[in-house]
Amino acid sequence: MKIYYNKKELNIYVEDLKANKKTIGFVPTMGALHLGHASLIEKGLQQNDIVVVSVFVNPTQFDNEEDLVKYPRTLKKDAELLSTISKSKIVIYAPTVEDIYGDHVKSTSFNYDGLEHEMEGRFRDGHFDGVGTIVKRLFEIVRPDKSYFGEKDFQQLMIVKKLVEKHHLPVEVVGCKIHRAKDGLAMSSRNTRLKPEYRVAAPFIYKTLNTAKEKFRTNSANKVTKWVESQFAKHDLLELEYFLIADIDTLKTAKRKSNKKTYRAFIAVYADDIRLIDNIALN
Ligand code: PAF
Repeated sequence: MKIYYNKKELNIYVEDLKANKKTIGFVPTMGALHLGHASLIEKGLQQNDIVVVSVFVNPTQFDNEEDLVKYPRTLKKDAELLSTISKSKIVIYAPTVEDIYGDHVKSTSFNYDGLEHEMEGRFRDGHFDGVGTIVKRLFEIVRPDKSYFGEKDFQQLMIVKKLVEKHHLPVEVVGCKIHRAKDGLAMSSRNTRLKPEYRVAAPFIYKTLNTAKEKFRTNSANKVTKWVESQFAKHDLLELEYFLIADIDTLKTAKRKSNKKTYRAFIAVYADDIRLIDNIALN
């Protein structure tokens, strides 16, 4: 498994691919790879000659220093997992903070037409500026034809699409379905940090989302929201940060249902000190 640690070396490789008319799929990650990442990479392999996987814990998207420090860093294991998928068609780009940011570890400020102010944007200060900064930079370095993002971070997916549209970046952003454990928990690198009792409790999130979806057929968004809040208020281990139903185009919370709009329910929950997010399509 070839690992590039700096953009100069990667650039030589990318130039060669371009000269040989090879297509590049790109899966940006922060490492601690799991089967959710693997499904994005497999989709990338079906649609491209080569898949570049970046492994980079991006400091500018963390609003919580402790979360950044504790974020799992498992490059050797990540490379092992990737080599079980393909040794010849996947390469890793695992840059240092300096390779990406030089000595200016700061994010650029982006305008995503308001998408950034909803949901995660309310709870994670500066998060989407950090995401936009790193994703734009990685696109410029990797120069992919297509890039793959999971729907678990649905707001991130919409924001990256907006970034590409507004900055005319020559890449197609492909959204991929949420990959779940057998018990329904959405795959996340953070899951490995859950204490056993919290891991057992966590599928309650998806179970509740499914019931909320059922209820939304005949109830208002407000009623469903109140119901979800009451379920978590009774829960001993999981603490609800937010649940809301939003229009997928604007990500604004739904006030009145319209059958011309497409809705999704979004949730953020604390399991001890681990923050888990999930979402579900409603119609
Ligand atoms: O979703 C993630 O893991 C990160 O936000 C991303 C897209 C790799 C940017 O750091």
